[in-house]
Amino acid sequence: MEKIAVEICVGTSCHLYGALDLAQVLEEVNMKYPERLEIISRTCLGNCDKGPNVRLAGKLLERITPEELRNIIIQLVQKKEKENE
Ligand code: FES
Repeated sequence: MEKIAVEICVGTSCHLYGALDLAQVLEEVNMKYPERLEIISRTCLGNCDKGPNVRLAGKLLERITPEELRNIIIQLVQKKEKENE
C-alpha cells in the first residue's frame, strides 16, 4: 500500500505553536497503523504565522490541533485501506 506523506514542520515558529504535540500524535498513529505513514520533518513550510503546520498528502493544514490531526489522519488511513480492499 502506498504510504501517506505527512510533512511536519519542526521549525522554531511551529515548535512554539506546539509542533511537538503533533509529532506525538504522528507517533501514536504510526504505532496503531504501521507502514501507512511516511513522516517527514521540515524546518519550514512557509506559513510560520499560522502554525503549527502539517502538510498531509500535499495539503497544508494550518493551526492544526493534535486532536484534529489525529482524526484527519485516521480517517485518511481508513479510507485508503478501504480503497485497497
Ligand atoms: S516554521 Fe513552520 S512554517 Fe515556518
